[in-house]
Amino acid sequence: METLFSGIQPSGIPTLGNYIGALKQFNEIQHDYDCFFCIVDQHAITVPQDRLKLRENTRKLAAIYLASGLDHEKVTLFIQSEVPAHIQAGWILTTITSIGELERMTQYKDKAQKQTQGIPAGLLTYPPLMAADIVLYNTNIVPVGDDQKQHIELTRNVVDRFNSKYNDVLTKPAIHMPKFGARIMSLQDPTKKMSKSDDNQKNFISLLDEPNVAAKKIKSAVTDSDGIVKYDKVNKPGISNLLVIYSSITSKSIEELELQYEDKGYGDFKGDLAEEVKKFLLEFQEKFNYFYENKEVLDEILDKGRDKASFVANKTLKKMENAMGLGRKR
Ligand code: TYM
Repeated sequence: METLFSGIQPSGIPTLGNYIGALKQFNEIQHDYDCFFCIVDQHAITVPQDRLKLRENTRKLAAIYLASGLDHEKVTLFIQSEVPAHIQAGWILTTITSIGELERMTQYKDKAQKQTQGIPAGLLTYPPLMAADIVLYNTNIVPVGDDQKQHIELTRNVVDRFNSKYNDVLTKPAIHMPKFGARIMSLQDPTKKMSKSDDNQKNFISLLDEPNVAAKKIKSAVTDSDGIVKYDKVNKPGISNLLVIYSSITSKSIEELELQYEDKGYGDFKGDLAEEVKKFLLEFQEKFNYFYENKEVLDEILDKGRDKASFVANKTLKKMENAMGLGRKR
């Protein structure tokens, strides 16, 4: 069976964008692969975090992964900082990545721009750590949203470099993105990505938003003035984004939805979508509460995940170190 790896940062509460672009696909393909899902807290600290909030968000993210439908008997769910091999392999890959290629990463450029008190070096060296996350598990596929494409491309290049320089020890991963929903946009500015760390709460729907609040956010989402419910990403980014959200949380295709709202206005369309979002969140949060409140169950899953992940990751790390001549021959 091939291996799948993916990660989410506990830098806030995941949004409907994270669900549609990542968690939903994890759920759909989990039985086709040997899956490793990671709470990447070491990535989260590349920008300042409050320690108590980070701890809380880490637990919440674990419960959110499970509420999305992952089978914890089958998949490996763990916290990055509890498996030290990530940082160790990350350092190794940092030594074969050039500053030039890191400076070209758009996510680095965006995040660096927002820093007011100097740019942490970790923001720049984030991608080799992400590459380490992936290669440690001999990963074949990485399901992610569109914004991670450049990081996965870099990972593939770094793998080629390592393998040709040292030894063919690393597996080259392929990217896996959903056909629709790889980039859910902000509700107030549909030309911008929906992000969990956005300062404006109205731009995103958090998976833990109070369902009535989320419904209001949908109703006040920016659209356009022509009143036609039609998918047209370039000319109608707001409506197109809402159509993708609608289709992703129901079993209706975009075409079906266009037909359903052919003779109706945006008021009806948004009202119905608001109800669907409300229903989705109510069900989701019920499952979330179960895992979040059952502290022992959650800890047991994360302990088991840490042990399994450590076992696999340490084996690959040792191979990498041997290939490079680090430490003594064992
Ligand atoms: P993060 O935490 O920003 O996002 C987690 C996942 O959600 C996807 N995503 C979206 N999909 C659709 N629409 C959106 N608006 C949207 N926003 C986010 C992301 O593409 C991602 O799949 N660097 C990664 C975490 C990471 C990782 C890894 C991922 C660390 N190591 C190894 C895969 C493999 C990140 O910051 O994701």
